[in-house]
Amino acid sequence: MATGPGSRPEPRPVVAVPMSPKALTAPPMSFRGPRGLHSENSHGTSHQNDADGRTDMTSSNRTDHWAGPAIETAGLVKTFGDTRAVDGVDLRIEPGTVYGLLGPNGAGKTTTVRMLATLLRPDGGEAHVFGHDVVREADAVRSRVSLTGQYASVDEDLTGTENLVLLARLTGHAKKASYDRAAQLLDAFGLSEAAGRQVKNYSGGMRRRIDIAASILNTPDLLFLDEPTTGLDPRSRNQVWEIVRAVVAQGTTVLLTTQYLDEADQLASRIAVIDKGKVIAEGTKGELKASVGAGAVHVRLRDADRRPEAERVLRQALGTDVQLEPDPVALTARVGNGSPDGAAAAEKASRALAELARAGITVDNFSLGQPSLDEVFLALTGKPDDRHDSPHDSPDDSRPEPQPTLKKEATA
Ligand SMILES: Nc1ncnc2c1ncn2[C@@H]1O[C@H](COP(=O)(O)OP(=O)(O)OP(=O)(O)O)[C@@H](O)[C@H]1O
Ligand SMILES: [Mg+2]
Repeated sequence: MATGPGSRPEPRPVVAVPMSPKALTAPPMSFRGPRGLHSENSHGTSHQNDADGRTDMTSSNRTDHWAGPAIETAGLVKTFGDTRAVDGVDLRIEPGTVYGLLGPNGAGKTTTVRMLATLLRPDGGEAHVFGHDVVREADAVRSRVSLTGQYASVDEDLTGTENLVLLARLTGHAKKASYDRAAQLLDAFGLSEAAGRQVKNYSGGMRRRIDIAASILNTPDLLFLDEPTTGLDPRSRNQVWEIVRAVVAQGTTVLLTTQYLDEADQLASRIAVIDKGKVIAEGTKGELKASVGAGAVHVRLRDADRRPEAERVLRQALGTDVQLEPDPVALTARVGNGSPDGAAAAEKASRALAELARAGITVDNFSLGQPSLDEVFLALTGKPDDRHDSPHDSPDDSRPEPQPTLKKEATA
């Protein structure tokens, strides 16, 4: 039985990861495996052999000079019975970037990723990965991508080393090279001490790291990370973020799905907000924030008893709803709805403060800031970031992948 992350304390301090981005990129290695061996699993990088049967664990296909987008989809659709899980999704993702796919439970994030990773066949529309059609050229796509799924997919009964070595061997690497690469990744991910332990005895954070290590064993051109930090404590999340940054610094494109707005804020250069299978907003973080208004006024009163009156005054002065914060002296209101005009918002906010002063309400401090991505998300989806409304959702990331590890997942 898998144990949820967080339900067990980290057994020991985790060594900082990664030491250097270089450690995450595989060095060239000699190849002695059968020519054309293609392993396909959730860490599905395969690799190409050159004319004399040598290959390396770096990106299988970086010689393939594709100058276009890493991912491009047009009207992508996937239905399950009556559910339109993905309902006409258009995406364009530039290479070498982290792109965030942000959405609540059941929005269609995993389904989108699975189609792009060739694990599910779309019912409509088109998707290209580095110019290759995900249906007609699925093998070419698979040779360039790697997926770290929402649920841990390494073999629980094997040790960290055994998992990585097995994957390296399956993708055709010589024995010594496989052990070397495993040791290098375990070290970079702060798992050296746990290398000889069965993965079922790892904490949630350690599992996520071994999972990501497995997915970059052969440095992919495109890495799908499906909720890589769900259920992790803040330190482990930070470690995973560092890993993602290091991987991107090596030229890998990352498509990251997340329900954590701060994660998208931290990592992604562009974000698509997806809800009920549709992209409801897309752009840089700044653009998304500007789209819901120039900013929000945060006010803290001296006296909690005056808050109802302050709410009334602010609502009148700003002409918008005022939110009462959990802090009993704090109020927040959006200003400049739908307008990115910061100067106008500032003027409105100062008028509102003057009204508070006129009413004899003392303000201890206030700020006018850009809305948080949380506010953007709420404004766009109209519902809180509720994590438990999806029938197939598991509250933590410990649920094992339903397929046995390393099983070849057929393209549906
Ligand atoms: N294999 C399946 N069979 C039937 N319905 C499915 C299947 N996979 C997904 N769905 C449904 O499709 C919709 C989108 O699911 P998906 O897993 O893509 O959402 P998600 O955005 O990844 O959500 P979460 O944040 O909970 O992981 C949901 O309504 C889900 O129940
Ligand atoms: Mg999902």
